[in-house]
Amino acid sequence: MRTLVTDIGELVTNDPARPGLLGTVADAAFLIDDGRVAWVGSSADRNLGDQSNPDLGPADQIVSARGAAVIPGFVDSHNHLLFAGERSAEFAARMAGESYSAGGIATTVAATRAASDAELEANLRALLAQALHSGTTTVEIKSGYGLTVADELRALRIAARHTSETTLMAAHVLPPEYRDNPDAYVDLVIEEMIPAVAAQSLARWVDVFCEEGAFTEAQTERIVTAAGAAGLLTRIHANQLTAGGALRLAARLGCASADHATFASAEDLRALAAAGTVATLLPAIEFSTRQPYPDARRYYAAGVDVAIASDTNPGSGFSNSIPFSIALAVRDMRFTVEQAIHAATAGGAKALRRTDVGGIFPGQRADFSILDAPGYRYLAYRPGVAQIARVYRGGEQVAENPAPYYFDRTADRRDRTDHAPQNHEETR
Ligand code: NIG
Ligand code: FE
Repeated sequence: MRTLVTDIGELVTNDPARPGLLGTVADAAFLIDDGRVAWVGSSADRNLGDQSNPDLGPADQIVSARGAAVIPGFVDSHNHLLFAGERSAEFAARMAGESYSAGGIATTVAATRAASDAELEANLRALLAQALHSGTTTVEIKSGYGLTVADELRALRIAARHTSETTLMAAHVLPPEYRDNPDAYVDLVIEEMIPAVAAQSLARWVDVFCEEGAFTEAQTERIVTAAGAAGLLTRIHANQLTAGGALRLAARLGCASADHATFASAEDLRALAAAGTVATLLPAIEFSTRQPYPDARRYYAAGVDVAIASDTNPGSGFSNSIPFSIALAVRDMRFTVEQAIHAATAGGAKALRRTDVGGIFPGQRADFSILDAPGYRYLAYRPGVAQIARVYRGGEQVAENPAPYYFDRTADRRDRTDHAPQNHEETR
């Protein structure tokens, strides 16, 4: 199946071969062949087979973006989606002046352990569907609310049915059973959980919450080293609540990403840049915990690769909207709009060590959203407004939202000819 997406007012490609951070193309079109992007060019070349692309031949189907912007699908590289219960009262207490601590996680651990597999999976499905409708086409999912061998493996088994980006985060907090013997729990993670997960291919990643009230740097180093030896990729929750040495540790251990990175010294940033460890910033968590917003300009100036993720979880922040994170990043973390869009797409892909997603250029999986807006800037310009009109993954449409502002208004004037007005598509 070959699909031509055309009449794109502004296309974000993230193609490093094109000028600008986002490699944007005006009046663009691209061809999808068998779920992958095969060609990107001008919408003037709509009738493929002539002029510049004699080898491409005609498409089977045409999708008109009607002048709207098209962006790559968001790559949300940090999420805790296997949980039961909720903590809205904790959020309200924070807004009234309480501060966030790792302690609240225990509430969710108790609810999650008591939930059935079916309940956990139903909650996961609902959250994934919601994320998809806000333009997220790749999702990382962590365990970490089970904290027993059986409960952690069960979470990963469920997660693995929905994504290839699964993460063992048994080292989230110390389970109550090990309160007096933290190192015995670290032993359990290293000696039982990591080997089981590796043997059963249940996780691609291991993550550790390195923080006061969670795991020490020494414990984190032991777990990350064991994970690497077992062939798993690693990342760390680093410097979320305090300015410890976790960012430098992540760099030294060769982690793909250090996440949160709320508190980062110049030395921390130098270490991340030198190691090629991505800093995954989480704007919606700073929002929901009233933490200081880190200044992204420092990270970029230091040459650090930056990702933006939602960190969807019931405690520190329960927004799974990447457009919301982008708006916060631009307004409060001093990202340029271009940097924020890039960080939520190509940046997330880099944090997940993925080369097949995060952009729209030849070879990439055809994951993208048609916006209900004429330009990508609108994502930050109109915060809180649903502007993801249609979402595609692997070239297939997987979500559609009512698109009352731009997209529908342009139907008459941008429709060039011959496609069905109902679904904006035709089959040839
Ligand atoms: O990324 N920092 C640790 N873990 C999550 C929060 C988990 C929770 O509060 O339930 C986070 O913020
Ligand atoms: Fe997290």
